[in-house]
Amino acid sequence: MRNYSRNLSSALLASVMIYLSMVPTSESWGKEGHYATCKIAQPLLSEEASAAVKKLLPDYAEGDLASLCSWADQVRFRYRWASPLHFIDTPDNKCTYIYSRDCHNPEGEEGMCVDGAIKNYTSQLGNYGCRATGANYNLTEALLFLSHFMGDIHQPLHVGFSTDEGGNTIKLHWYGRQNNLHHIWDTLIIETAMKDNYNNDLEEMIAAIQKNVTDSWSDEVPTWEKCSTNALACPKLYADESINLACNWAYKDADQNSVLEDDYFFSRLPIVETQLAKGGVRLAATLNRIFNST
Ligand SMILES: *[C@@H]1O[C@H](CO)[C@@H](O)[C@H](O)[C@H]1NC(C)=O
Ligand SMILES: *[C@@H]1O[C@H](CO)[C@@H](O)[C@H](O)[C@H]1NC(C)=O
Ligand SMILES: *[C@@H]1O[C@H](CO)[C@@H](O)[C@H](O)[C@H]1NC(C)=O
Ligand SMILES: [Zn+2]
Repeated sequence: MRNYSRNLSSALLASVMIYLSMVPTSESWGKEGHYATCKIAQPLLSEEASAAVKKLLPDYAEGDLASLCSWADQVRFRYRWASPLHFIDTPDNKCTYIYSRDCHNPEGEEGMCVDGAIKNYTSQLGNYGCRATGANYNLTEALLFLSHFMGDIHQPLHVGFSTDEGGNTIKLHWYGRQNNLHHIWDTLIIETAMKDNYNNDLEEMIAAIQKNVTDSWSDEVPTWEKCSTNALACPKLYADESINLACNWAYKDADQNSVLEDDYFFSRLPIVETQLAKGGVRLAATLNRIFNST
């Protein structure tokens, strides 16, 4: 959910929930999706990147980036300006993403979308180890934002249509229960897979995806990692992929009031698993490019 600002009382309730350190409803991949993205990235980090990440993480993270991969969701009431950075709204049914047309916040400020944010925090982290410019930014926050947004940009409906708010206003049924399309992609496909295939154990599901990254998908991994020459990150490419997946898979056969069951679940789960893998592989590749050159 990302349109949390619409209802002040529920926003207040939700922030109270955060202070009680309960798990709030998530915006973006749910907690599981973000955790998986960062978990997949961690073993792929170079020695330099791994050392820099450990230095930047607060002590209580105990060196585990994944434990703070949803930090950007937890600060969304304090950092209201950052809420447009979790997604991109594109024109309905165009199935394209154009930076100059689509990457802005509701006030029209250019760059304020998930593509712009990934570039922003990548370039801030490029100043790591450089006393003069590095000190202008909080690089711990830059790392946590980048790690989170790299997950979001791989959730197809985070590059969705404007009118339905990336599927948030498409109400339908997930098996027996009323839900909305955005939440199904953030959370429910992953949770249903965990229950059906992995004893409700997220670590088991992550291990299965990691195994594919090193085995059956290993030929594709270099093409996932690839970025244009000299670029540290290629978020435009990832956004293009997501809007295509949104059109060809997420929105397809998922109209208002429809009932989504096995047919939809079994055909979409491989998309979700591949997107989690890509997000993790690309987060690691980006951090490696950043810290190998600082
Ligand atoms: C870039 O990062 C700074 C510091 O967090 C923030 O104030 C600014 O809004 C960000 N811009 C984008 C496009 O992410
Ligand atoms: C950087 O950001 C983190 C997370 O918001 C915060 O805990 C820390 O105090 C900040 N560091 C500085 C030097 O402001
Ligand atoms: C692993 O890859 C195989 C072959 O592409 C696929 O059938 C399977 O669903 C994948 N499993 C996961 C967890 O991604
Ligand atoms: Zn998010």
